[in-house]
Amino acid sequence: MHHFDYKDGLLHCEAVSLADIAAKVGTPFYCYSKATLQKHLKAFQDAFAGADHIVCYSVKVNSNLSVLDTLFTGGAGADVVSGGELFRALKAGGDPKKIVYSGVGKKEEEIRFALESGILMFNVESPLELLTIDRVAAELGLIAPIAIRVNPDVDPRTHAYISTGLKKNKFGIAIERALVEYRAARDLKNVEIVGVDCHIGSQITEIGPFVDAVQKIKKLVVDLKEEGIDIKYFDIGGGLGIPYDDETPPHPSEYGRAVIDTVGDLGLTIIMEPGRAIAGNAGVLVGRVQYTKDGENKQFIIGDTAMNDLIRPSLYGAHHGIKAVKQSSATRYADLVGPICETGDFMAKDRELPEMEPGDLYAVMSAGGYGFTMSSNYNSRPRPAEVMVDGANYEIVRKRESYEDLIRGEKTV
Ligand code: LLP
Repeated sequence: MHHFDYKDGLLHCEAVSLADIAAKVGTPFYCYSKATLQKHLKAFQDAFAGADHIVCYSVKVNSNLSVLDTLFTGGAGADVVSGGELFRALKAGGDPKKIVYSGVGKKEEEIRFALESGILMFNVESPLELLTIDRVAAELGLIAPIAIRVNPDVDPRTHAYISTGLKKNKFGIAIERALVEYRAARDLKNVEIVGVDCHIGSQITEIGPFVDAVQKIKKLVVDLKEEGIDIKYFDIGGGLGIPYDDETPPHPSEYGRAVIDTVGDLGLTIIMEPGRAIAGNAGVLVGRVQYTKDGENKQFIIGDTAMNDLIRPSLYGAHHGIKAVKQSSATRYADLVGPICETGDFMAKDRELPEMEPGDLYAVMSAGGYGFTMSSNYNSRPRPAEVMVDGANYEIVRKRESYEDLIRGEKTV
C-alpha cells in the first residue's frame, strides 16, 4: 500500500499534486510519502508484536535524514554497512543501542567509530574481521558486542546480484564453520557474543527461503546453548520483496508469523533489517518529457530522468511502473530513455507506456528504495532534489545539486 493516487486527474503524493511540486522544485525530483513510510514500519512492528523485536531499518535503501528521522521517530533502529551510514543514522537521532552493523569490509576506523558510538552489535562476516574487532576494542578499552553473520546456503530465488545467502556468495561465515567461529569468539577478551545473524538476499517474494534459513540457524542456536554460549538476538536480516509489477510478495504479517512460528520458542529478541519493503513503494522519481522521437522501428520518449538518478532498470533489468502525472488512458509502445550517452540508459524498455508529449510530467514508481542512494553524477548531472510529503504539506529535504556541487573539492594542477 502506498499514497500515490490520482485525484482530479492528477497524480498526487498524499494530498499534494506532483505537478505542483514540479512547478516549484523543477525536475527531476524524488518524492517520498511520510504516511507510507510510517504505515510500512508499523506493518513490521505489528507483524512481530508477538515477540520481543527490533525493526532495524536498512539505511542503504534510502538514507535521507528526513526518511531516517521519520522511521526513528516511529521506533525503528538501523542496519548500517559503513561509517557513513552510521554517521547519517546518528545525525538523524538514531538510538545507537538499536543499530546493527553488517558488511564484509569494515575498516578499522569504521569499527572504532561504531565502538565509540556504542552500537547494539557488529554482524561479523569473517574470522579476520572478528580478530580486528577484538584488537580495536582492546585498544579502546571496550568490549565489542558481536553476532556472527551465518551464511545458511539457502537460495532466495531472486536476481543473482542481490542473492547473498548462497555458499558461493562473499557474505557471512558458512553455517558448517559457524560453531568453530563462535568458539573462537568466546576465547577473545574484548568481544562479547550477543547474537546470530543472517541475510539471504533482497526482493524475495516467497516465504520458503526465509523459513529455511531461520530453521537452519535455529539448530545452530541450540548447539551454541549446549556449549554454554547464550545469545540474546536473532537477526533475520532483510529481504522481503515488494510489488514492482505483478509480483505478489508475502505481507509482513505473513512473514512475521512464519518467523515467530519457527524460532519464537527460542525466546530471543528478533531483529529484522527490512529496507525495500519500508521505503521502496514510499517514493517516486518525477521527470519531464523533453522530446519524443521515432526510431528505426520503435519510438522513444526522452525524459530528464537518467540512469545516474535511478540505476535499477539499467543494472538489474528492473521493472518500474511509469505513470503520466496527468491521467490519461492513451498509450504508446515505446522506450522511456534518459539523456545519458549509453544505450543502457532507460527507465522502461519495450513497454506499453502512457502517451506523453514534450513538457508532460511522469512518475517512475516504486523508486523510494535503492533510488537516490545509488545515484551518481555520471555525465556530470547534478543529483535530483528530494522532497518529503506529509499530508497537504511538503518540504525539500535535499536540495538539487548545483554545477558548483559537481566540482567541490576538485582542483587543477
Ligand atoms: N540487511 C543487509 C545485510 C543487506 O545487505 C540488505 C540489502 C538489507 C538488510 C536490506 O534488504 P531489503 O529489505 O531492502 O531487501 N540495490 C539492489 C538491492 C541490494 C540489496 C543489498 N542488501 C536493488 O536495487 O534491488
